[in-house]
Amino acid sequence: MRIAFCCTDTASEPWLLGLRAALPGADLSLWAPGAPPADYAVVWAPPQQFFDEQAQLKAVFNIGAGVDALLKLKLPPQAQIVRLDDAGMSVQMAEYVCHAVIRHFREFDAYEADTGQGKWSFRKPRARGDFPVGIMGLGVLGTRVARSLAQFEFAVNGWSRSPKVLGDWVTERSAPCPPPALRAPPLPTQNALPPSHLEGVKCFSGADGFKDFLAASRVLVCLLPLTPDTRDIMNRDSLSRLQAGGYVINVARGAHLVEDDLLTLLDSGHLAGATLDVFRTEPLPVGHPFWTHPKITVTPHTSARTLRSESIAQIAGKIAALQRGEPVAGVVEPSRGY
Ligand code: NAP
Ligand code: GLV
Repeated sequence: MRIAFCCTDTASEPWLLGLRAALPGADLSLWAPGAPPADYAVVWAPPQQFFDEQAQLKAVFNIGAGVDALLKLKLPPQAQIVRLDDAGMSVQMAEYVCHAVIRHFREFDAYEADTGQGKWSFRKPRARGDFPVGIMGLGVLGTRVARSLAQFEFAVNGWSRSPKVLGDWVTERSAPCPPPALRAPPLPTQNALPPSHLEGVKCFSGADGFKDFLAASRVLVCLLPLTPDTRDIMNRDSLSRLQAGGYVINVARGAHLVEDDLLTLLDSGHLAGATLDVFRTEPLPVGHPFWTHPKITVTPHTSARTLRSESIAQIAGKIAALQRGEPVAGVVEPSRGY
């Protein structure tokens, strides 16, 4: 079995060492033009030339969750595309989003400004029920984030393409917070619950459910894949539908957000702020208004990083499974874009 490794902006040597240790029988090498044909590929942002030359690939393993950049290329039609399926990302994403929501809800920026001036002052506690959080995308990452926020007793709304089967209280809920007996169960370590079982989350789906989802939410978290259907989804119209004083957290892709529309709604006061991890142009260009906007927190596409050893273990396990003729999780459907 031959495996080609072709990952730009990635230190290749530790990956090659790790993959060789995990798949001792494999002939694994760093791809260069003219390399011999491989059975499998491990890639991140490869050039089109890679696929033009490697037309016989059986499967292509992307060392990230999002495959939007990969799907812009012409891949061999028979090759399965396999995305990272959590591999340590969901807990990072849950940390990041919970941090951003709690920092906003508890007004920690304002406290920091006060204490920075030596001021010992209290702010009136805000009602958790006034900060329902809406999560766009209830996949591997969105599901984990939803469960984590529900643990903090935020009212959580979720929106996905296909309907989810709901926990009991969800359909009957009228109060913004779940009753204690029905709060989310302890976090599973490995997505133990199927994604169709989302206790503690009020689920909406499809175009029909989108406006109701937005109207029910004050904090909006984007965890959608970037597809033709989701590009520019956070725009003046959709963001205006959030409850007044809305807050935007974009941890998916920069092209989900129409940047000028966000600025307009921050300036009008309809939105209270935003935490942005991803941008239409990365790195965020020098002089971009987001860098210095007082209501925007910027991080450099770091909310959920690819963890090398977890990813190597997952990819090696899947290559071994495919070699045995077994199906694997995380296979992308190119026609739907994720
Ligand atoms: P996933 O498992 O594929 O889940 C995608 C979710 O989005 C699913 O719930 C899907 O609905 C929903 N969805 C897709 N198209 C939709 C549409 N048109 N309308 C409504 N819902 C739609 O993806 P994931 O692993 O959670 O990752 C999500 C994205 O996060 C990735 O694609 C990537 O862009 C981004 N990401 C960012 C970072 C970072 O560091 N900033 C790190 C990792 C990933 P169904 O459930 O009905 O299929
Ligand atoms: C990072 O953005 C990823 O898609 O894994």
